[in-house]
Amino acid sequence: MAHQSARQLALAALREWQTGKNFADSILARFLRSSDLTAPDRAFATELFYGILRNLSLLDLWIGSLRSEHLDHDTRDLLRLGLYQLFLLETPEHAAVFETVHLANARARPLVNAVLRNALRRKMELVEKASRQNLSVRSSHPQFLIDRWTKNFGAENTAALCEWNNRPAPIYARVNRLRISTEEFLSQHSHAVRLSQHENFVRLTSIPIDALARGDCYIQDPSTAAACLLLDPSPGEKVLDACAAPGGKTVYLAELMMNQGVIIACDRDEGRIRTLRDNLERLGVEIARLAHHDWTSGSPLRHDAAISPFDRILIDTPCSNTGVMRRRADLRWRLASKDFFRVQAKQLRILRGTISLLKTGGVLVYSTCSIEPEENEEVVRTITNEFSFLELAKEVSSLPFRDGFDGSYAAKLIRTR
Ligand SMILES: C[S@@+](CC[C@H](N)C(=O)[O-])C[C@H]1O[C@@H](n2cnc3c(N)ncnc32)[C@H](O)[C@@H]1O
Repeated sequence: MAHQSARQLALAALREWQTGKNFADSILARFLRSSDLTAPDRAFATELFYGILRNLSLLDLWIGSLRSEHLDHDTRDLLRLGLYQLFLLETPEHAAVFETVHLANARARPLVNAVLRNALRRKMELVEKASRQNLSVRSSHPQFLIDRWTKNFGAENTAALCEWNNRPAPIYARVNRLRISTEEFLSQHSHAVRLSQHENFVRLTSIPIDALARGDCYIQDPSTAAACLLLDPSPGEKVLDACAAPGGKTVYLAELMMNQGVIIACDRDEGRIRTLRDNLERLGVEIARLAHHDWTSGSPLRHDAAISPFDRILIDTPCSNTGVMRRRADLRWRLASKDFFRVQAKQLRILRGTISLLKTGGVLVYSTCSIEPEENEEVVRTITNEFSFLELAKEVSSLPFRDGFDGSYAAKLIRTR
């Protein structure tokens, strides 16, 4: 993979993504790991790959207007790459056309060259044509998502959400106060800006590689804090973090507990548990014990029986991730409407598997990074109807178009008997 240009890398990643076997994030991470690109070129390759995925329908609209005959996958990808640079990234025209044509094989080269040059001549007309399309095409989101969001949030919020999903996310980090105070962190990172609503979160202009390696901070959106703050664990308590990996919330819980008490951090995925272990160690968590467990298996959790029942349980379930779409460029193309019910069934099974471990008077927080009622309010209503001893005490949600952070949901349930 060495000696590839940023454009070559983005194109190769796009071609692999089309095979449907791997997610965009893992493809890009693997390609970047084995490349010798400079930091700016890595950023450019990332921008190209994710930008094309975020604008697929729009790019294909333009390609269809420029060329009605059939195109093979490779030529289509080259045209997507060229048009993304020319129309959406505003790359200098000569570089965009020359470098893209250069990537085509000898047979496709004349066609790619002709289509891109024609696109430049017709740019105003094509941009105007795009503005007349419906939101699904204009913003490159599947129609079923537009329909459900319009029903749930209204047309204006849906348009704002689509626009949000198409903008790359800023870098946010939570300062890990198990290692360093926020003031000290800020004095060491002059480019870090403290968030007024979340005093232990900062906005950064680049990844703080050394601080991450020291465990001084953890890359995390501020919307993830709500579940931990709702759980509100105290030092000395017994806490179950049921779906813990890779550990962003476990570390925050340990911080709130001042590293006193015990956290049983579970996950069903062994690979992710390894990452969890590394993260907890690097970030200075001393009170977590790891457990490999699948809550849908029906078998009891194997742990020190003296620990349960738990004072508090956090269930940060797997979900559709629609609240974090701006961080998952290809998610919209992988989701189908039936997924929301499929994932709801799993969320309910995980919840049912944990409830008996909560002590009377204990607190359970259920959380997702989804903005879909099927995975949030509906799950909580079903569970509180099924277990009459669970009382809904509070719900907190974050909606990108309303709150300016990723979408998330957290509900606090109290066991009354
Ligand atoms: C949203 S992620 C958790 C993120 C984590 N709480 C954090 O803050 O870093 C959901 C996790 O649930 C785990 N998971 C999925 N199904 C599970 C199950 N049936 N039992 C236990 N864990 C499960 C996944 O492996 C994944 O690591």
